Amino acid sequence: MEKDIQKKIDELLSKMTLREKIGQLNQPETPTADKIEEFKDMVRKGEVGSILMSCGATAGNDAQGAINVEFYNKLQRIAVEESPNGIPILFGRDVIHGHNTVFPIPLAMTASFNEELIEKSFMDIAKEASNDSIHWTFTPMLDLARDPRWGRIIEGPGEDPYLGARVAVAAVRGLQGNNVSDKDKILACAKHYIGYGASEGGRDYHRTEITDYSLFNYYLPAFKGAVDAGALTVMSSFNDVSGQPVTSSRYYLTEILRNKLGFMGFVVSDYDAVSQLKKQGVAQDEEDCADMSLSAGLDMDMHDSVYLNNLEKSVKEKRISEDIIDTAVRRVLYVKFKKGLFDNPYCEKKEINRISHFEDALKMAEESIVLLKNDNGLLPLKKDKKVGLVGPFVHERRSLLGSWTLDGKESETRNIYEAMREKAPGKIEGITGVGLGWDSSVRCMFESDVVVLCLGESWTATGEHRAVSDISLTDDQKMLIKKAKQTGKKTVGVLFCGRPIEMQGIADNFDALILAWHGGNMCADAVANIIYGDCVPSGRMPMTAVRKATHIPLYYNVTSSGRPVNCYYGENAGDCYVDSLATPYYPFGYGLSYTEFRYSDIRCDNPQLSVDNIKNGKKFILSVDVENIGEYNSKETVQLYINDKVASMMRPIKELKGFKKILINKGEKVSVKFELGYEELGFYLSNGEYTVEPGEFSVYIGKNSLTNRSITIKII
Ligand code: BGC
Repeated sequence: MEKDIQKKIDELLSKMTLREKIGQLNQPETPTADKIEEFKDMVRKGEVGSILMSCGATAGNDAQGAINVEFYNKLQRIAVEESPNGIPILFGRDVIHGHNTVFPIPLAMTASFNEELIEKSFMDIAKEASNDSIHWTFTPMLDLARDPRWGRIIEGPGEDPYLGARVAVAAVRGLQGNNVSDKDKILACAKHYIGYGASEGGRDYHRTEITDYSLFNYYLPAFKGAVDAGALTVMSSFNDVSGQPVTSSRYYLTEILRNKLGFMGFVVSDYDAVSQLKKQGVAQDEEDCADMSLSAGLDMDMHDSVYLNNLEKSVKEKRISEDIIDTAVRRVLYVKFKKGLFDNPYCEKKEINRISHFEDALKMAEESIVLLKNDNGLLPLKKDKKVGLVGPFVHERRSLLGSWTLDGKESETRNIYEAMREKAPGKIEGITGVGLGWDSSVRCMFESDVVVLCLGESWTATGEHRAVSDISLTDDQKMLIKKAKQTGKKTVGVLFCGRPIEMQGIADNFDALILAWHGGNMCADAVANIIYGDCVPSGRMPMTAVRKATHIPLYYNVTSSGRPVNCYYGENAGDCYVDSLATPYYPFGYGLSYTEFRYSDIRCDNPQLSVDNIKNGKKFILSVDVENIGEYNSKETVQLYINDKVASMMRPIKELKGFKKILINKGEKVSVKFELGYEELGFYLSNGEYTVEPGEFSVYIGKNSLTNRSITIKII
């Protein structure tokens, strides 16, 4: 900890009563209108360290539901001018993928494989949020997840630890910048630590079973990325890991997070998670909950006031030493000093020109869209074609914004009908109807040159506490696909989804298929740009799209079975299930372009290095030529995977260890270089020790996780 901050914290601590100290660890929600006076009193007494700025009809929102900056400034003034030590309150809100301007859901942002754009998006997000009194957001969500039934799949980076870590770094950099005390920066919160994405069956909040070997190699890397990038807060997760609720686990919260990853900030609980320890059956009463969580290393209690109501007694009865409380308070104050709250406690709201934010949201939406299928180059469409735009999402706005959108507006979101009509005036007929509207839909399809079916899932089928057991489309939508097929017209499918849905029986019926996600304010414009070729698609799957939901979990970075049945890679795939083929429908890293890229063989000038060389920073240098041999200038995401052929523990058949997204103009050939060193070539043993072992590695460079082009390198 920096010395000057340390000194200020010491001074403050020496003046604080035990009650005020505990107040710093307390994070109530914004009060409802009838509780404001009572709440102000708490602030006056120093009992409110932070506020969870909730949404809904509370006093923190004005008539339009927007944040009432004046209200928060007033509360802050009470804290600064009337509370015993004038410690400012930290205001936190869920700004997950956009504040006023809504960007694509995080899973879609990840599909862009474009860290620069992700960082820029989070810069815009921080700028808007900080202008609305927000100091701290509960983002990025970094839960590795392999089950698309989980509603929260939309919030995270998908199934890959390496990609997750790179996205984490970009998000933290965008939110916090080089100096988080800058007025237009906000604190990041890496959540939900740890293992929440592994909930059984994708059922939210359910138990998880994670070995330490998996923990270190799969679940932790994204959090390590966030911590290394300087994330100043972490949120512990609701779930238990193999019988240990994370909320009260010293092993996860202190031994791993602090002692191993070197995290310096504070840990906040998830909503009411401290009191939920009773329900999880490890605590007798709230006193227990408070003692256990605090001792484990959980510094701030979100919402349930269990710390505030119990910790004083715990100290008096000597169950908890005041030192433990001091340690947690130090961490909270440290973050408040780093944020510059003591110098700038108030929000001075200013006009923000959001035009550039919408432009960034458009770029982000465009690059997140994945072209899944394009038979005979049906796309892009010519603007003189008569398009029958049909399906329940033709006039939809709200779902395009996605879940976890507290401050975005439908009124700032165009629907696909409007966006398409602007591109090709007079050529678009748009019909929403299914069910009662069948006749008009079918007529519209017959009268068009090309059918574009706008399908997907509602935003309410995604997000917290919204797992689904069926990741297919509704029966109505399937019927629509069937009817489109019967017309014999060329048909493009556009999927507005929060997750990769079940593809069998859906993807097969389209000539072209676009995964548009819930892409935010500019989603429809991005889709229209792609359909007409004003933008060339470049998104890649951040997780596997399964044929059937019954194949879940299906993910690319599996270890090899001893028998020849690695279905993911098509090795005797028929042996996996006797009744269905279990290869992925679309594998991790997959996505098409309108152009074509030709890859050369892989080169490596130094295919052999010693373990010592590697430990001392030497790297294998690999390169490949990628040539755009098609008709469009386009971005390509060149992906590098490794396989550690023989190791002391089983290693994945393939694991992503590098990617570069680059613009290659038509006719152009570029040489793409990668470096592989200590960070990429090792792995964690079950005890958390990182090891780089001698032996051969296959290195694959190609378009997606199924690439076969490889070269061998050797560590001696
Ligand atoms: C969610 C968190 C969120 C918190 C505050 C919880 O229910 O799990 O992701 O940040 O609520 O709204």
